[in-house]
Amino acid sequence: MDDKPVDKDYILNELNEIHKLDYNYSDGRILGSMCTEAHPFAKEVYCKFLDTNLGDPGLFKGTKLIENKVIKSIGELLSIDEPYGNIVTGGTEANIMAMRAARNHARKYKGIHDGEIIVPASAHFSFKKAADMLNLKIVEAELDENYRIDINSVKNLISDKTVAIVAIAGTTELGLIDPIEEISKIAFENNIYFHVDAAFGGFSIPFLRSMGFDLPQFDFSLEGVCSITVDPHKMGLAPIPAGGILFRKEEYLDVMAVDSPYLTVKTQSTIVGTRMGASSAATYAIMKYLGKEGYSKLAEQLMDNTKFLKEGLEDLGYELVCEPELNIVAFNHPNMETNVLAQKLEDLGWKVSVSKCPVAIRIVLMNHIKKSHLKELLEDLKEII
Ligand SMILES: Cc1ncc(COP(=O)(O)O)c(C=O)c1O
Repeated sequence: MDDKPVDKDYILNELNEIHKLDYNYSDGRILGSMCTEAHPFAKEVYCKFLDTNLGDPGLFKGTKLIENKVIKSIGELLSIDEPYGNIVTGGTEANIMAMRAARNHARKYKGIHDGEIIVPASAHFSFKKAADMLNLKIVEAELDENYRIDINSVKNLISDKTVAIVAIAGTTELGLIDPIEEISKIAFENNIYFHVDAAFGGFSIPFLRSMGFDLPQFDFSLEGVCSITVDPHKMGLAPIPAGGILFRKEEYLDVMAVDSPYLTVKTQSTIVGTRMGASSAATYAIMKYLGKEGYSKLAEQLMDNTKFLKEGLEDLGYELVCEPELNIVAFNHPNMETNVLAQKLEDLGWKVSVSKCPVAIRIVLMNHIKKSHLKELLEDLKEII
C-alpha cells in the first residue's frame, strides 16, 4: 500500500490500463463462458443497492423483502407457490447450500453421519467442493450413451448412507437435461433428498417449454424435487454475483440454521454472513423489466443462433457430439485432434473451451454472441480445414 493518498485520476488510469488485459463480451470472441454481459438496467439498480447487507436483514428490511419477492418470482417459473431460499453468489454456493441442507436433514431425521451423495459423472465441480467441505462422499453415477445420467446406475448406487441424489438441467459441458422425472420418482420412493442443478438451464428451459420446445419437465412440479439451483447471472442477465437456491420446504433452511447473536435476526442459514442485497435488487429489476415475454424472446434467439451454428458446422464437415438441447454446441472434425483445432482457434483470437466427456470444442451461445460473430467463426473454421 502507498504511504500517502494517491490521486483518483492516477488510480483510474492505472486501473483502466490493467482492465485492457480483460476480454470484452461485446467482441463476441468469448465462446466458452456461461456468463455474459449483464443488462444495463440491472447494473444501474445493482449500484443503488451496493451498501445493503442481507446478512443482517433486520437493518435492511426493504432489501430482504426484495429477496423474498425474487425467490417467489423464480419459484413461479419453477412451479412452486411458496419457495424458500436465497440469492447467493452463484451456482457453486447454491449447490453447496443444497448439499448442506440434505446432509443436515439426513443427520437429524435419519441419523446418517457419514453420508454419500450420488451425482452424475457430468456434474459441475462445485459438488466436489461441497463434498470436501461437508465431509460427504461423492458416488458418481454413470452416463448413458447420450451423456445423460444413467437411471439404473443411480438405482444401483443408492445405499443406507445416501443423503442426496443430484441431477442436472443443462449440463456444464453439453447443456443436456437429465431424465429428472424418472430420478425424482426414484428419490421420492426411497425418501432421499433430490437436488436439481439448473444453474445454467433455469433461466431458459421454462420459457422454451412454454414456447413449445420439446424439453422435459425438471422443476418442483415433480414431487421428489427438494431444491433447485438457478443462476440469474447466467441467462438471467443479472450482474455477477447472482446465484439462486430454492427449497421446497422451510425445514431445509431450518436444519442449516445457526444462532447469530449480535445480529437483528436470531438465526442464519446461509453459508456467508455479510452478503450482497444488490444482487437481489438487480435480479428483481431485470426479471420485472424483461418479463416472461422478454426472456422468452431471448431464449428463442439463443436457440436460433444454436441452430445456425450447428447447421453451419455440419455443412463444413464438422461433427456434433450430440444434438443440442439448450444453447451449447460441442463438435469435432473427423480429421483433426480436438486440441489442435482448439489451438488454431485460439491463435485466431477465439476464446474456446474444450469439454472432457466427450472431448470436443464446446461453444456456449450466450447473449453476447451475435450471428455476425458466428459467421466470422464459421469462416475461420472453413479456413482451418
Ligand atoms: C450446471 C452448473 N452448476 C453450477 C455451476 C457453478 O456456477 P458458478 O460458477 O456461478 O458458481 C455451473 C457453472 O458453470 C454450472 O454450469
